[in-house]
Amino acid sequence: MKKRIWTVLVLVLSMMLAACGTVKNGKPATEAVKLTADDQLYIGFVLDTLKDERWYKDKELFEEAVRSQGARVKTLAANGNDDVQLKQAELLIEEGVDVLVVVPHDAAFSAAIVELAHKADVKVISYDRLITNAPVDYYISFDNVKVGEVQAAEIVKQAPSGSIAYIGGAESDNNAILFRQGAMNVLKPLIDKGTIKLVYDQYTDGWDPKKAEANMKTALGKNGNKINAVVAANDGTAGGVINALSAAGLAGKVPVSGQDAELEGVRRVVAGTQSMTVYKPISLLATQAAEMAVKVAADKEINADQSINNGAADIPAVLLEPVAVTKDTIRTTVVKDGYLTEEQVYGK
Ligand code: BGC
Repeated sequence: MKKRIWTVLVLVLSMMLAACGTVKNGKPATEAVKLTADDQLYIGFVLDTLKDERWYKDKELFEEAVRSQGARVKTLAANGNDDVQLKQAELLIEEGVDVLVVVPHDAAFSAAIVELAHKADVKVISYDRLITNAPVDYYISFDNVKVGEVQAAEIVKQAPSGSIAYIGGAESDNNAILFRQGAMNVLKPLIDKGTIKLVYDQYTDGWDPKKAEANMKTALGKNGNKINAVVAANDGTAGGVINALSAAGLAGKVPVSGQDAELEGVRRVVAGTQSMTVYKPISLLATQAAEMAVKVAADKEINADQSINNGAADIPAVLLEPVAVTKDTIRTTVVKDGYLTEEQVYGK
């Protein structure tokens, strides 16, 4: 915030000079008042990727919410590349952002972003995914353990016994760890009782649907196609899993979870090849994060009701509620909120 203090000092000094009727640098001192306009807060948004449908929504909604508060925003996406993401953060810091909002590609690697930002007196907000082992200033996301819990709860409701496969997200993403943790909160007691058997348990590099498909093929191969249900961590991986099931003639016969309420995911729920998805109201996340970012940039107090230890410190956190969506609740959740339209989902 040193930069802002200087700006204010320059502004005050210039106004005093103007009051004395003096001229600064050969220009009328009233020019200095323009500093208020130039002083518009500047927010940098650094995304891991724009590959999954949801991140477009995050980008649009976040930018809109920042602009509606009169601040400036620039978004850069790193295509899943850590070095690119660090470079993009560096560029934005050099451009003079007042705060950096980061969706880290790799939870641990991105600690370097926090270090860089803090050296320049720029605060960092971890958006949706937590940066680990660095004193990041704030974290805003959904209750990601709960996401995993609602996924597994719906799957065991539909397939109360038998063999289950877990197809997770990217292990480098702290969320993927939390989703799995939540799923295991539900599955473990049933595994211990012997009601269900976890026959395959694999993270998916880079959240890549093709890799999820290959992993699901391996799972089916190893188990002679005898898999009764799949907890897949998001709609992307669920799509890969369902392709693999389809090739084995099992699509629609094996319950599969998902997350994100992506259009394709919700359409598969309607078609019956996917059993559920998790709706995370991105507009709430993006709007609240934008409000937080503008406040932090303006050095105002933030009320975070929770805190999460990320290995380096207790990080003030805001965690929003995820919502389970099945065939019966599509209209009363995602459609009702305008996240997807009736026409998009049902083609009417
Ligand atoms: C997000 C999910 C998303 C996944 C892949 C996770 O960190 O929370 O909503 O599906 O990344 O992009």
